[in-house]
Amino acid sequence: MKRTFRICLVITLILFFVYLLVIVDYGEFTSPLPIIYSNQCHISVWNHVETHSISPSFRKAMSRHLWMTLDLSREGSQNYTQLSLIGAYVYPKYISITINSQSMVKQSVYCRYFDCKRNELLGSEWKGVIFPESVVHCPRRKGAEFVSVTKEMRDEPPTPMRLKYRIYERPVHNLSICVAAFYGNEPKWIQIAEFIEHHKMEGATFFYFHIGNISSYDRRILDEYQKVQGFRIDLTTYSSGDIEVKVLQEKYERPFYAWQLIEIQDCHMRSKYHSKWTAFIDIDERIHTTEKNKTFIDILNELDETNVAEIKMPHVKVVKNGETPPKYENSEQIKNEIFTRKYTKTAPPAWYASKAVIRPDRIGIMSIHEVIALEPGYKSIEMDSKKLVFRHYKDTLHRVSGNDWAQNETISDNPISSEYTDLLAKKVIEKVKFVYEKVPANCSTIPVYMTSSRHEQKR
Ligand SMILES: *[C@@H]1O[C@H](CO)[C@@H](O)[C@H](O)[C@H]1NC(C)=O
Ligand SMILES: *[C@@H]1O[C@H](CO)[C@@H](O)[C@H](O)[C@H]1NC(C)=O
Ligand SMILES: *[C@@H]1O[C@H](CO)[C@@H](O)[C@H](O)[C@H]1NC(C)=O
Ligand SMILES: *[C@@H]1O[C@H](CO)[C@@H](O)[C@H](O)[C@H]1NC(C)=O
Ligand SMILES: *[C@@H]1O[C@H](CO)[C@@H](O)[C@H](O)[C@H]1NC(C)=O
Ligand SMILES: *[C@@H]1O[C@H](CO)[C@@H](O)[C@H](O)[C@H]1NC(C)=O
Repeated sequence: MKRTFRICLVITLILFFVYLLVIVDYGEFTSPLPIIYSNQCHISVWNHVETHSISPSFRKAMSRHLWMTLDLSREGSQNYTQLSLIGAYVYPKYISITINSQSMVKQSVYCRYFDCKRNELLGSEWKGVIFPESVVHCPRRKGAEFVSVTKEMRDEPPTPMRLKYRIYERPVHNLSICVAAFYGNEPKWIQIAEFIEHHKMEGATFFYFHIGNISSYDRRILDEYQKVQGFRIDLTTYSSGDIEVKVLQEKYERPFYAWQLIEIQDCHMRSKYHSKWTAFIDIDERIHTTEKNKTFIDILNELDETNVAEIKMPHVKVVKNGETPPKYENSEQIKNEIFTRKYTKTAPPAWYASKAVIRPDRIGIMSIHEVIALEPGYKSIEMDSKKLVFRHYKDTLHRVSGNDWAQNETISDNPISSEYTDLLAKKVIEKVKFVYEKVPANCSTIPVYMTSSRHEQKR
């Protein structure tokens, strides 16, 4: 009896010690100070929440502490840059801010809060920690509409960013896709349309794009998909568009790959509570289900009652040995040029360089190919290649390295059914026609004053 008591006491002491470590080390605790409010701002109902920690539970705080101790998210690149914000998201219990830094993991920073007029809420700042790399979680503050991050408490903050509303009772989308940042000179217009239309057919309803560089011609199709005809209630802009576009732009150049790492972190935070499932793939990749009459969303819905948080998808390389057309010509061109029909020679399914679909709210740390840390209680599964693969159209002409990748692979012909490609082509044609086919103005159908006296009127 005495012994049991002693063991219990020791365990309690250890737990208490660990608890102190967690809260002291990482500042996940703050004594609430009186925050000074001006009364210029109307505070919306959703914004009356105040929290004092970034971990909704002790268990989550513990896991986070463990991940930090194990150093699971270190990039240590790009240290010559000034701190700037990529995104800021408000969730029910906390706020996440993504930043452009790739060398500050585990460093302390201050979350700074601003009201509707961008005046700082005095006394509201909170000492947080960058973790994972490029992400800062901050507690919520009543009335905060803008946030920023600084290294020291009194530093001049980088331009505060408006919080993106993510306080949804249930996710707005069931399946969304994060598309790796755009770079390079290959024309993208046909791929953008094909990528979106294809994944819509598999059940995706939203797409997050990040842009490093894009031609103005390719940008037009993105603008069309983005078309926001939404309305606004407080911060909640409902978009009837299919996509959200974030341009990654800053003074300091960095290798493309470095931006991709930031895109992953930002998109994880961006999709959290907004989308139930999020896939992380590139514009030259397409997720295909292979069972008859079953789309990807059907497969995901079957997992509803499980604790699955990550699905790893096998990789099928497709030989891309042709050029992508630079401009739209006509519908015949589209029928022949959509990748799904044009390239059909594939390598067998493989796990090397697989990609993942996640439940963003159940994931602690994400990376390009897979999850690095799951929240406690969740698991990861591998998808059978008989049910699903993602096809990766891998260039054999213009790769920076390794045009000969197909040399030692067993290549075979694996076309997608023409029933499917016909339907896909039809959807792509409809979209690109609307954007790129121009019907010249016919003067006899336009009121005369619009064509005759314009020059005079301008003066
Ligand atoms: C930045 O990174 C370079 C290369 O890794 C390193 O030599 C340098 O000391 C770093 N500078 C700082 C301020 O950390
Ligand atoms: C997501 O799934 C739920 C439940 O299956 C359904 O009620 C809802 O309409 C779906 N949302 C979208 C955007 O498809
Ligand atoms: C950006 O893309 C355009 C169009 O593809 C290209 O002309 C330009 O050189 C690119 N710029 C950079 C910095 O890559
Ligand atoms: C697929 O759906 C079509 C039409 O809804 C139906 O005729 C066909 O039998 C289905 N095939 C399978 C394998 O369920
Ligand atoms: C293919 O195999 C040959 C012989 O083993 C090797 O020399 C070559 O580097 C391989 N090519 C690739 C792309 O791996
Ligand atoms: C312009 O409109 C007129 C009247 O609708 C029509 O008769 C004519 O054929 C049109 N011209 C062209 C080039 O479309």
